[in-house]
Amino acid sequence: MATEIEFEVNGGRQRVKEDGATPLLLALRNNLELRGTRHGCATGNCGACAVLVEGRPVTSCNTPVEAVAGLTVETIEGFERDAVGKALLGAFMNEQAGQCGYCLAGILIRAKAFLVNTKSPSRADIAEALDDHLCRCGAHHRILTAIERAANELSGGQAA
Ligand code: FES
Ligand code: FES
Repeated sequence: MATEIEFEVNGGRQRVKEDGATPLLLALRNNLELRGTRHGCATGNCGACAVLVEGRPVTSCNTPVEAVAGLTVETIEGFERDAVGKALLGAFMNEQAGQCGYCLAGILIRAKAFLVNTKSPSRADIAEALDDHLCRCGAHHRILTAIERAANELSGGQAA
């Protein structure tokens, strides 16, 4: 049965009228028209649908929308709002990281949560952080380089 569920998305209050068991992914894409979050495996295994809930990455395909009632959600559309998001977007553009781009929103979400909590990570640290994310294009090398570049910029170093 549809009920009203309220939560914050990218800094703004949102309300959706939905069955509480509806995946957050579908509420974001269909109810709120935030289509940057990708629909991949729908089983919690590819990472394409990752969003931040209270700053932590979760797979939105297997998170019921009722689980985020009263909480804060961030999607890729919110990345321009702060320094870490901007640094990541810029680095991915500059490194031309990704090919088809389908995996990137989820990877950027994971990378953001990681860089907020980890200063000056090694490449191995970054690869480990991305362990739950699949990239079928095999763009891993440039993705890792882009995250290294963003980390370097955020710590005040020069871009690679
Ligand atoms: S679509 Fe959610 S993990 Fe693959
Ligand atoms: S760039 Fe195509 S799946 Fe990663």
